[in-house]
Amino acid sequence: MKRDFHSVLDIRQIATPSFALLSYIVTDSESGECFVIDPPADIRSHVDIGELNIKAVINTHIHPDHTMGNHLFSARVPILAHTDEGGLFQRIVNSSLAAVFTACVPPKISFSITEEEGLELGSTPIGVIHTPGHSPGSICLSWPGNLITGDTVFIGGIGRTDLPGGNTEAIKKSIERILTFPGDTTVWPGHSYGGKHHAALQEISPFLKQILESI
Ligand SMILES: [Fe+2]
Repeated sequence: MKRDFHSVLDIRQIATPSFALLSYIVTDSESGECFVIDPPADIRSHVDIGELNIKAVINTHIHPDHTMGNHLFSARVPILAHTDEGGLFQRIVNSSLAAVFTACVPPKISFSITEEEGLELGSTPIGVIHTPGHSPGSICLSWPGNLITGDTVFIGGIGRTDLPGGNTEAIKKSIERILTFPGDTTVWPGHSYGGKHHAALQEISPFLKQILESI
């Protein structure tokens, strides 16, 4: 577990081979409360979830690979996503993808997260950055020195924009916002496709600027 000296928040990254997914447990070390972010279906093979003091599950967006573990928590804690992701959720549930993922699509997500209200863990604020483009309600989560980027930015790539609700112009603006963070911010992405699992923003910013010029 990485101790973040900028705050009382600890971050644990969970890498699962399925979909090369990277999930997170962010814990407020003072209160012991945690957020589980984009839980994988096999999270119980990594963590005893019964031991966690979970405030909420957060989906950075609601593509099925990021929500497959939601059902393990839905009886216990709220499952939250951005307000702008609700329409996409209905489209996915109604689509052929549902046939593949029905068993894993959670019964309920509260589409209540907004950038304006942000989030709080214990007494520690966590910033919400609405970063549409990969999906309408994609979010990044920030606290000093750290940025969880979901599928907006990877280490060596960016999220695709050709899925329903994707928007290339929107992701460009979202990446521009990410680039305004301090260079020593650790970027924690939603997938790792063979490369690093995290990196300082300054390591990846030249690549991101190149991408912005090419799309
Ligand atoms: Fe995605």
